[in-house]
Amino acid sequence: MKNTVLDYALKIRLPLTLFVIVVSFMLTFYISRAERDSIGYSPEQPIKFSHKLHAGTMSIDCQYCHTGVTKGRAALVPSVNICMNCHSIARKDRPEIIKLTRYYNEDEPIPWKRVHKVPEYAYFNHSVHVNKGIQCETCHGNVRDMDVIKQVKGFTMTACLDCHREPEKYVSYLTNIKKGPENCFACHR
Ligand code: HEC
Ligand code: HEC
Ligand code: HEC
Ligand code: HEC
Ligand code: HEC
Repeated sequence: MKNTVLDYALKIRLPLTLFVIVVSFMLTFYISRAERDSIGYSPEQPIKFSHKLHAGTMSIDCQYCHTGVTKGRAALVPSVNICMNCHSIARKDRPEIIKLTRYYNEDEPIPWKRVHKVPEYAYFNHSVHVNKGIQCETCHGNVRDMDVIKQVKGFTMTACLDCHREPEKYVSYLTNIKKGPENCFACHR
């Protein structure tokens, strides 16, 4: 009798228990990974601003609005003033532009929702990448085709390191590209 119970426990229960444990570990790993990765994240914004229209159809240069990309860490999201360069005249009667004008008149920043973000403990800098000729699209996808901005590439440590180790795979449009750093202190300072 004792023997059969033990047999049962070892032959069926133990493998089954182990199986359940392993599967649940794998699931939590992938789920937490996906959350952190935030690929596909595309929040609704306070004003229906379209990159497809402005950067695509109208071909406004990215740097007209994202003035920080060659200068430092942040690309920077434009202030309402930049929008008003055109919208004090263009499409003034449209509901979204009336909303925009209200932010401007009340001197209130537009509460844009942040889409791409690395955690505080990791250091990223736009200018070192952009000034080497790495294009926005390599990291942000085809923004000129997006009505609403969406994260399409992962910004995990593995994703950063993949390109740092073999940049020629990701930026084949550049010649003589140097590898990026792999030492911990480059990105965790
Ligand atoms: C007319 C101004 C304007 C132009 C031109 C423009 N952008 Fe933007 N961009 C914005 C505004 C405003 C936001 C914040 C609202 C949003 O996310 O749609 C933004 C957001 C973004 C974001 C997401 C920021 C975040 O929160 O993570 C990326 C990436 C981006 N732009 C890339 C580009 C690229 C690449 C180009 C050129 C192909 C470009 N933008 C051209 C105004 C502009
Ligand atoms: C260089 C000029 C220019 C700049 C800068 C610009 N826009 Fe526009 N925008 C236009 C024009 C022109 C249209 C109309 C295009 C069309 O309908 O063919 C437009 C259309 C729009 C619309 C759609 C309006 C509608 O028809 O409902 C919104 C919303 C908008 N812009 C928001 C913004 C915001 C927010 C900014 C600043 C981040 C901005 N624009 C910066 C020129 C500009
Ligand atoms: C090597 C990859 C890479 C390239 C190239 C790149 N970005 Fe980014 N971008 C990122 C990462 C990573 C973040 C999140 C940074 C953070 O949280 O500090 C980000 C965030 C942003 C943001 C929102 C936060 C901010 O920095 O103000 C905007 C806007 C943006 N990028 C626009 C651009 C534009 C425009 C270009 C091209 C001129 C560009 N990016 C090129 C990786 C890149
Ligand atoms: C090219 C930039 C880069 C380098 C080099 C780098 N990291 Fe990271 N690391 C990141 C980014 C970005 C994140 C945040 C995204 C993520 O969680 O994957 C991160 C996250 C981490 C985390 C948190 C991971 C987690 O699962 O929460 C640890 C721990 C870490 N790094 C340690 C290291 C160590 C140790 C080294 C050196 C062997 C190193 N990193 C080198 C960019 C880098
Ligand atoms: C598409 C390729 C690519 C991606 C993706 C990329 N990098 Fe880089 N990065 C480079 C290259 C190439 C260099 C080296 C530039 C040089 O010095 O010539 C570099 C340099 C750096 C440096 C050194 C800057 C300095 O001050 O010297 C840091 C820090 C860095 N990257 C962080 C990151 C982080 C964090 C991420 C991910 C969120 C990331 N990078 C994603 C290509 C990339």
